Amino acid sequence: MGNTITKIKKYNRNNRNNRNNRNKNQHKSLFNNNDDETIDRLQILHHFYRDQWKGNFNAPIKEMLKNGGLMILDVGSGTGTWTCDMSTDFPLNLYFGVEILPIFPHEKPRNIVFLINDILEGLPFRSNSFDYIHLRFMSLSLKPDVWQDKLINELARVLRPGGYLEIMENEITVSNRGPNVQEFFDRVHEELRSEGYNPTIIKLMKEFLINSGSFKNEDIKHTVMYVPMGEWGGKLSEMGLKTYYSLLKIFANMIKIPKKQNIDSYLDLINEEINNYKSCMISHRFVARKKKII
Ligand SMILES: C[S@@+](CC[C@H](N)C(=O)[O-])C[C@H]1O[C@@H](n2cnc3c(N)ncnc32)[C@H](O)[C@@H]1O
Repeated sequence: MGNTITKIKKYNRNNRNNRNNRNKNQHKSLFNNNDDETIDRLQILHHFYRDQWKGNFNAPIKEMLKNGGLMILDVGSGTGTWTCDMSTDFPLNLYFGVEILPIFPHEKPRNIVFLINDILEGLPFRSNSFDYIHLRFMSLSLKPDVWQDKLINELARVLRPGGYLEIMENEITVSNRGPNVQEFFDRVHEELRSEGYNPTIIKLMKEFLINSGSFKNEDIKHTVMYVPMGEWGGKLSEMGLKTYYSLLKIFANMIKIPKKQNIDSYLDLINEEINNYKSCMISHRFVARKKKII
């Protein structure tokens, strides 16, 4: 480990600026929250998507993970749920989670190191250190202009040649949109763009990977999954929509809702339409293998 980390800002659980004081964190924004509702949502969504995708990753690394000795990095690790889950399933590897907010669990397995780190300042690791890097749900955490240089190029730097980078993101919309849901997401996209975010950044992901110079087109595998939302898809999908509700609420607060409607009745309408039109969440996974010789 000593050879991997170049500068450390380690999480100190006794530091009063940590979780107890977390609302004062300077990085708090609409999408980088560490309130209890966000933490709960991230944890539930982790289990929901693991079940839907039938696993925590798509990269062809299962046997290597079982054999152990791999260096794994989770970037923007949030509550650390993915990292902890992986370290339980495949305990013979070393896991790192980097996150700008101090929201890691207090109790953690010994084979995990959580570091406070702003990815925009670069990762505190030597080049070619990791066998596998995981990044999930960061499309609304970072503005589009930093994705290429500060994020993807930096991940490519710390990934070893032949190692895998996996990115999972969901579209900021659903499939089979009814008229109100269509209007809702149109307004959400408009608002996000006015705040400087790109709500369809997923479409650029392959381009970012190739432009980094570290991945060949044929070594990038893109998989899309349509995940049913609502009662029509069974118990799990019903739970999925309930969890998604808190995100819909954040979005609804961003936009001007139609006159004569309060936010709860408006969200009920959106929820009902998602269910009636049998809408799906559109989930993407990109697995890219780094070139052996660059
Ligand atoms: C939507 S959450 C996803 C968390 C986790 N990846 C998951 O799948 O549950 C995005 C996370 O990225 C973190 N983040 C945002 N900007 C960051 C930055 N510049 N450096 C490191 N982490 C950042 C946020 O604090 C947040 O925990």
